[in-house]
Amino acid sequence: MARYILPTAGSSAGVPPTPFYYYDLDLLRRTLAAAVAAAGRYGYRIHYALKANVEPQILREIQRAGLGADCVSGYEVACAVENGFAPERIVFAGVGKSDREIEQAVEAGIFAFNCESLEELEVIDALAGRAGRRVDVALRINPDVRPDTHEYIATGQAESKFGISYAEIDRALARLHRLSHIRIVGLHFHIGSQIRNLASFAELAERVNGIAAWFAERGVEIAHLNMGGGLGIDYDDPDAEPVPDFEGYFRTFHDRLQVGAGQTVHFELGRSIVAQCGELLTRVLYTKTTAGGARFAIVDAGMTELIRPALYKAHHKIENLTAAGRPMGVYSIAGPICESSDVFARDIPFPETRRGDLLSIRSTGAYGRIMASNYNMRPIAPSRFGGGPDE
Ligand code: LLP
Repeated sequence: MARYILPTAGSSAGVPPTPFYYYDLDLLRRTLAAAVAAAGRYGYRIHYALKANVEPQILREIQRAGLGADCVSGYEVACAVENGFAPERIVFAGVGKSDREIEQAVEAGIFAFNCESLEELEVIDALAGRAGRRVDVALRINPDVRPDTHEYIATGQAESKFGISYAEIDRALARLHRLSHIRIVGLHFHIGSQIRNLASFAELAERVNGIAAWFAERGVEIAHLNMGGGLGIDYDDPDAEPVPDFEGYFRTFHDRLQVGAGQTVHFELGRSIVAQCGELLTRVLYTKTTAGGARFAIVDAGMTELIRPALYKAHHKIENLTAAGRPMGVYSIAGPICESSDVFARDIPFPETRRGDLLSIRSTGAYGRIMASNYNMRPIAPSRFGGGPDE
């Protein structure tokens, strides 16, 4: 195990300047090995969703483990290529791909565009034609599945902006028949993120069976099914489940999804690969008590380093690494940003906390650093690594 270890036991002496992100590369490797083994059982292929984290050291481990890449911008496509992902293992999704981004991906020769609208089909066709290429597309279809997660990170319901609706599939197919620079090779779905209840994925698989049959009845050969990402992690107790339940996740699809002969099945996992290997280290700057009697610990990391609590009311486990033996109290943990939403946790049982204490905010490897901002003119916090091959 390579959690962040204090240089001086029990004290924050010698700890590098805070805040900083810390990544346990050993846990990342174990996670990757588990994911690859579980997917490999059924011949499934994983594309890592770069949107979760693009630290080069992390990408290197993921690429070495044999995963492909899932990108949602031209910048991510370029980043994946730079970090050694083979273009023919890169998928490119996104509801608003710009012409420039499409041109770059056509040039790079990626595996498939996950296409999200009828208009986008026309644009990809025109730009591929201009480049003298024929490119492969998967239709991202909105399966109208309502997963058990926060509404901001649910993406597969009829009213969401993502994908092509059931009502338009007919028209999409008619259009594909007359576009000569794109070839339909796949169907793509993504119902949302941080989904712990595997029944949502079973429901997705059932919907996909119906949709794939619709295409088969019309003589359209679908070479691959891409089921997106979304597997959730245990934010409440990261040590209880440091490696997510990849076995259960892939088994759900194996049990429910009908796969045709020669068809490949792809996944786009982000959070479940990288979330648990990251933590955010922060120092307590001040403690104070409000007029109402609530005790606050004000720390030097804020929504600029981790926006998930402010944006989604997300819960991350927080630990005081320097409070061994102190009595328990009740604290709210807040950042220094001039926003009332800059609070990581409210009224949680927490050991008596003092200025200078070092806290760890857990499970921040996914959608932490990558969503950081310079608000209040704060610089982006550095990343540190442990458990690497050089240790
Ligand atoms: N594929 C597509 C098309 C996606 O939109 C996403 C995530 C993924 C794959 C990867 O999903 P994952 O396996 O990581 O659940 N910022 C939010 C999460 C937004 C996810 C957006 N799409 C958060 O901090 O919870």
